[in-house]
Amino acid sequence: MTLEVIEPLHDADALAALHTACFERPWSGDAFAKLLRGAGVHALGTSQGFIVIRCVADEAEILSLGVVPAARGAGHGRDLVRAAAHLAASAYQVRHIFLEVAANNHAARALYSGLGFICHGSRPRYYANIDAHLMRCDLRACGWMPVDCEKKGDCKL
Ligand SMILES: CC(C)(COP(=O)(O)OP(=O)(O)OC[C@H]1O[C@@H](n2cnc3c(N)ncnc32)[C@H](O)[C@@H]1OP(=O)(O)O)[C@@H](O)C(=O)NCCC(=O)NCCS
Repeated sequence: MTLEVIEPLHDADALAALHTACFERPWSGDAFAKLLRGAGVHALGTSQGFIVIRCVADEAEILSLGVVPAARGAGHGRDLVRAAAHLAASAYQVRHIFLEVAANNHAARALYSGLGFICHGSRPRYYANIDAHLMRCDLRACGWMPVDCEKKGDCKL
């Protein structure tokens, strides 16, 4: 399988189609269009996966991440998080990236942990009857370098 180059995504309907392929509860094209109009919001991806982040001050939140089932397990999810972190650090001087992930989403939790995110709290029953784990990555402590992506310490971004 050939993975495509990750690029900015501006087509709300295409994003909704990707989201539908990745999640049980899809977001509409209108929802993505509204989201993309927000300050600091960026979508990146390919025809196989996407990531949406919102950058505010020195923080970025991963709002959504998905890889279509047929393309999973090939490193695309990790590459999407890295690409988003690079954008956030280089364009906004972001120093922390955070997100919420369902406690039973073992694939996503393993992906984020492997990249240096740590769990720093939880929201009980945030997703219906499932807890949300709050995960955070300190890019500076990890040695994240936006220009040359130098790797240091435990951060795998
Ligand atoms: C979570 C998701 C984005 C991972 O995408 P992916 O392209 O399959 O992930 P990668 O191939 O980049 O895997 C990176 C790491 O994540 C972990 N991982 C990925 N899939 C996993 C699985 N099924 N079980 C356990 N760990 C898994 C592994 O640590 C993996 O590293 P390794 O290959 O060196 O072992 C994908 O499964 C997905 O879209 N799921 C549905 C939507 C979703 O849950 N999004 C996240 C919401 S917070």
